[in-house]
Amino acid sequence: MHPELLALLADGRLRSGQGLAALLGVSRAAVWKAVERLRAQGIDVDAEPRRGYRLKGAVELFDVGRIRAELDANATAVLRSLELKFEVDSTNSHLLERRAPPYGFADVCLCELQHAGRGRRGRAWIAPFGSGLAVSLSWTFRDTIRDLPALSLCVGVALVRALSRTGARGLRLKWPNDLWFEDRKIGGVLTELRAEAAGPAHVVIGLGLNVALPPEARRAIEAAGAPYAVGALADACPEPPSRNRVVGLAVNELIAMLPEFERSGFAPFRAEWLALDALRDRSVQVVMGEERIAGRALGVDDGGALCVSVGGRKRKFVSGEVSLRLEDQPR
Ligand code: BTN
Repeated sequence: MHPELLALLADGRLRSGQGLAALLGVSRAAVWKAVERLRAQGIDVDAEPRRGYRLKGAVELFDVGRIRAELDANATAVLRSLELKFEVDSTNSHLLERRAPPYGFADVCLCELQHAGRGRRGRAWIAPFGSGLAVSLSWTFRDTIRDLPALSLCVGVALVRALSRTGARGLRLKWPNDLWFEDRKIGGVLTELRAEAAGPAHVVIGLGLNVALPPEARRAIEAAGAPYAVGALADACPEPPSRNRVVGLAVNELIAMLPEFERSGFAPFRAEWLALDALRDRSVQVVMGEERIAGRALGVDDGGALCVSVGGRKRKFVSGEVSLRLEDQPR
């Protein structure tokens, strides 16, 4: 019942307990319980004595109809399912547990609350309620994918294309596919593969994006140990972006990119990736286990490996095995 209550409160206006109870067909005590449940999930609901309940601010909840309205003809034809869950442990895990879509089709899952979001390199991904998004797309390639690192880079390019359609300017990619604006991370991607040695490959691409993050949410993410400064898509946009629209645009671009990647690999995306490279010619530090290697970033090679000039020699680093830190990253 608490998701329905949330939908009634989403506009941020004050509503009486009695009115809510009548709309939901439950008792006032049941409304109070549902309010407590929302609060336990980190959703700020104000209770004003004898007046009613309201959210701290209005939220644009996800809406399957609004997302579908943003899909282009190709995505509409190819999307087998669009599953909106109120809460889930991880949208990536959820799709990995499901049967893969048939070749040429996609499944998408997104949620309002993700309790155990997973990031790259074993980190947790925190998506504060209402201000970000957690969405995953499941896809099947005809043959096993050998260059998963390059796929990650193509995903980054597709997502920048999508986000730029919201009016965002100045977006960058930090190798391999973190979404950045002004040296702050606004989003990240976790691409996971289920494949046999030969035959079809099932890939789940998960996007976590801060759409419009209040300062306290930024601080909470940084305090939880994020090794980077945190930003949001809205910082790069002239108007506050719609969460539903962002999901639709991301699905369109991912679905357009995947067959092209399957046909031609990284090559058609490389120039665009290089133009978006946030680190190019900057001092970087590559962390590999205990080892820290300082150098100057030189972009990526044909396979998507990061190239770094270290003591005058070019060294290459492959996605997934290294992490990268700017020596001059702002905090
Ligand atoms: C990163 O560490 O930068 C990647 C973060 C990816 C988070 C997204 S949120 C949707 C999907 N579900 C998950 O559990 N993780 C990804």
